[in-house]
This record gives sequence, C-alpha cells and structure tokens, in this order.
Amino acid sequence: MNVHDSEKIAGIFSEAGLQHAGELKEAGVVVLNTCSIREKAEQKFYSELGRLKSLKKKNPDLKIAVAGCIAQQKGNSLFKRFPYVDFVFGPNNIDSVQQWIKTSNGERQAAGGKQSTTHDARRSSALQDNPEYHTKILPMKREGRVRAWVSIMYGCNNFCAYCVVPYTRGRERSRPVEDICHEVRALSQQGYKEITLLGQNVNSYGKNINNSGDLTFLLEKIHEIDGIERIRFVTSHPRDLSERLIDAMRDLPKLCDHLHLPIQSGSDKILTLMNRGYTYAEYRKKIDSLRNAVPDIAVTTDIITGFPGETDADFEMTMNALSEIKYDGIFAFKYSKRPETRALDLPDHVDEQTKSRRLSRILGLQESITFEKNRALEGKIFDILVEGISETNPDTLTGRTSTNKIVNFCGDKGDIGKLIKIKILEAKQHSLFGEKMINVQ
Ligand code: 5AD
Ligand code: SF4
Repeated sequence: MNVHDSEKIAGIFSEAGLQHAGELKEAGVVVLNTCSIREKAEQKFYSELGRLKSLKKKNPDLKIAVAGCIAQQKGNSLFKRFPYVDFVFGPNNIDSVQQWIKTSNGERQAAGGKQSTTHDARRSSALQDNPEYHTKILPMKREGRVRAWVSIMYGCNNFCAYCVVPYTRGRERSRPVEDICHEVRALSQQGYKEITLLGQNVNSYGKNINNSGDLTFLLEKIHEIDGIERIRFVTSHPRDLSERLIDAMRDLPKLCDHLHLPIQSGSDKILTLMNRGYTYAEYRKKIDSLRNAVPDIAVTTDIITGFPGETDADFEMTMNALSEIKYDGIFAFKYSKRPETRALDLPDHVDEQTKSRRLSRILGLQESITFEKNRALEGKIFDILVEGISETNPDTLTGRTSTNKIVNFCGDKGDIGKLIKIKILEAKQHSLFGEKMINVQ
C-alpha cells in the first residue's frame, strides 16, 4: 500500500516537472513516506529523519515532507519535535502535494530563488478528513513495466485490536468501478500484463457505494479487459471471504492461483481478543473450500506472536494451525504496541523474550514447510510472467508463477513482459530455479 502511495507522490512531482534525484544529496525535496504498522517501522523513520537534519544544515533550501501513517498520527506535533520539516500530509491527502508544490514554487519565485519567509511561516500540513479522496484520479510514476498496483479502496472499518490502520487511513471507501476499469484499461494499453488490486479489506469492496457491485463483480469487469493476463488482489479478510469469490477464483482464468488470507492466530481465545470475527474452525473451512475449488492454489498468511493474553497453549494452537494448513509462505511479526489501539488496555502483555522465542519457532517451522512445498515443484512446468533481470544475479531473469512463487532462469531480455513455460529444476528456500522450455505450447 505504501509503495503504491509513493508511486502516486512521485507521479505528482513528475507531472509538476520535477525529476527523481540520482542521489540524496542532490535532492531539492525529500519525501519520507512513513509506515506505523509496527514500532520498528516508526523507529526507521526517526533515524532517517535524523540523517536529513544534517543534510538540511548543509543545504537550508532543502524541503522535507513527511507522508504516510506516522504523518497522519503525529500530525502537526512533528513540527515541534523536528522544526526542519516543511510539510506533513496524511495517506488520504496525497493530492495536497500538488498545492504544496505550487505554493513552494510561488514562494521561491517571489523571493527570486531565495527563501522568502521565516521557516515557521512556510510550514504547512494536510491531515484533515478528505471524503472525496477515493474519487480523485492521481498521476502515477510506477516502478515496474509488467506488474502494476491499482487501489480499489482506502481505509478500514474493522478495528482489529492490535491495528493502527483504521486510525491512520480512516473509514473504508471504495473507488467507483468505472474509475478502476479506466485505470486498468490504460495500464493494458501501456503494456502492463498483471495487476494487483489493493485495499485493506478487499472483500468488503463496494459496501459504501449505492447499487455498486462487490469484489467479484469488479473482478469480472476487469477480467474482460484485453491485454491484462493476470489479476491478483490483497488483502482478504477471512470473515468476509465469500463462496461467491471462491467460485470466481475457480471460474475466472486470469485470477491467479494465490490467496493471502491472514489468520493472525490459531487460538479462538486470541482471535476473539483481536476482534477478528472468526474462529479457527471457520477459517479452516474456508481454506478447505478454497482448496476444493482450486486444488493447486497457494495460500499465504500473516501471524502475530505474543498478542496480550497469549499463553503457551494458545501459541501451540498457532503452531498447530501452521502444521495443519501448510501455507506456501507466511509473514510473522512480534506483537507491537500501537497508539490508540484497544489491545493496549488488555491485561497480560507478553514479554519481549517470549515474543521473540515464539516468533523464531514459527519461522523455523514455516521454513521447513515452505521448502518441502517448493521441493514438490521440481520437475514441473509452469507459466511464468517474466518481470525483469534478477536483483540477486544479473545473469538471470526473474518472474512468478500464478501461485506467486519467484522463479529465476537463464533467458534473454526479449522475454521480459511475456508469459513463458519454465521447467523447475531446483527448489531453494525462497525461490525456484528453472529452465525455459522450447517448443512447448
Ligand atoms: N503488531 C504486530 N503485527 C501487526 N500487524 C498489524 N498490526 C500489528 C501490530 N500492532 C500485522 C498483521 C497484519 C500485517 C499487515 O501486519 O499481521 O496482517
Ligand atoms: Fe488492520 Fe484488521 Fe483493518 Fe487489516 S482488517 S487493516 S488488520 S484493522
């Protein structure tokens, strides 16, 4: 979500005629697009801001903007703590950058290139509720040429007890179907082959629009767009994952065989405390139904260890869930206290050491499951959408299976952007290595 927001911010600067600086010290403007999902992300921001402070000492004309969830949450108080920050804007006010650029340009012109006003007077922020944000069409400077992100909704109404998102990104708002389809059509004309629809809880897409279709309806519409060969969507909420969507995953060939379905915990007691709205048995039933409909589907998940009240027995239930479900991959995190969230007030917070120990056990178990699953793919042939040159080995190309597994192989640059058949030769821990099949249709 944040990476895509950065593409929007960069798009606005591009449209205003500004270019990406090759190096930080050459930049005239720096935007820090922040994340506050866990404390670690927040700490990263503070240390980055410290680096910028010394840069601004050397170049007082440098403009520093803070965007994203920390900006939304800390608001104008950031100016007090960090007086060298010029502009603060929240995730639902990205369009305000257009105005900020205009104002800053105006100031510069009025002062003949010199600073016109005192630093204090030039500081501004855009943090207010922006009820029309979901109807805005923003320019974008996308990072890739083959795969593109497309926002379909903003915000979240779920208030999971640990999560800061509803406080920073606000209430759920869906973009109109026509706007989304228009964007996807344009992407197809630009040569993009795969799109990933983005939202905090995509399964409730359309709920805030009168007479609108749901996510399945939207997927059917996008499916009709020529040139787009693969469609993905994140993130699904287990409670709202419908049979109708599962049927669509079976019936619409462009929908990729992968679902990210965060479970968070295998203990019903913890799931209730988290306010997740499902039990482990209900979650399992959805996975079974998904696997019945799409037998080779890859399923990935998110897990939190050491949520307040999690006992050893609760934790073992999560370990058991991993062994039973056998995910293709997981993202696991230690519970992190977030401002305003309900979990702060829960009793029996778990100590850091226990959280870490549980996290390593979870990761250790999953490593062996992932590897075992990858090994089972050796010798098989898959359609790979080739994305580009591998970052880890410039002599190889990289792409993904429909199930979202990374595959590296030797090929030529002409393959980039194409769907080609690859035979898997070797499974690695986090990727697969394969060879291009010649004369296979
Ligand atoms: N602590 C730890 N993990 C968290 N997540 C969200 N909030 C927290 C938190 N306070 C995790 C959840 C979510 C993923 C995006 O981040 O697992 O699914
Ligand atoms: Fe956070 Fe829960 Fe909303 Fe996901 S569904 S963004 S975890 S509140």
